[in-house]
Amino acid sequence: MLYNKTIKLKDGRECLLRNGTADDGAALLEEFNLTHEQTDFLLTYPDENTFTVEEEEKYLKEKTESDNEIEIIAIADGKLVGSAGIESLGSKDKVKHRADFGISIDEAYWGLGIGSALIAGCIECARKAGYTQLELQAVAENDKALNIYRKAGFVEYGRNPRGYNSRYTGYQEVVLMRLELS
Ligand SMILES: CC(C)(COP(=O)(O)OP(=O)(O)OC[C@H]1O[C@@H](n2cnc3c(N)ncnc32)[C@H](O)[C@@H]1OP(=O)(O)O)[C@@H](O)C(=O)NCCC(=O)NCCS
Repeated sequence: MLYNKTIKLKDGRECLLRNGTADDGAALLEEFNLTHEQTDFLLTYPDENTFTVEEEEKYLKEKTESDNEIEIIAIADGKLVGSAGIESLGSKDKVKHRADFGISIDEAYWGLGIGSALIAGCIECARKAGYTQLELQAVAENDKALNIYRKAGFVEYGRNPRGYNSRYTGYQEVVLMRLELS
């Protein structure tokens, strides 16, 4: 899928949100490893990421050509500082109305409005792709994420007290959220 939008950040800087393409493979991999090092609220630790640059390029090429999946990247100060995407739960009739949402932003760029704008972009794309439900999971202590999800209209439908098992803090409760798109 394709997406292209320039937004003004809370501090006045500009940020380009666009679908990532094969050319962004190396930068996206770098951003993935950086953001997954900066927080313990995400699913994967950087050393668990097995993607190579070539695989990341292929992944982005497939997303660009897809008619129901996308990875939107955020470019500020000339570099890739965040990304968010929607992924189908599958093509079977019973689940093809559902997509999963995920997001990560470089800590140096938190609080500027990039997260909210990436969520809005993914919701727009999910609607365009024909999904009727967008879903996500968030660690219960991740107040900032839960806050922006609720503001975007997501509602909680359950909690898994042992959803994640952190290397550093043990079990993390995971909140399940969903957004009806039509
Ligand atoms: C969660 C994340 C995506 C938010 O992105 P962001 O660009 O910082 O978000 P925004 O700037 O658009 O909005 C942040 C909002 O949270 C609010 N906020 C900040 N700190 C907060 C806190 N501790 N508790 C509640 N709300 C908080 C801000 O006031 C702002 O709300 P506003 O727009 O009404 O002023 C980003 O911090 C991130 O990538 N975190 C690490 C990865 C992660 O947690 N991903 C989500 C996994 S489910």
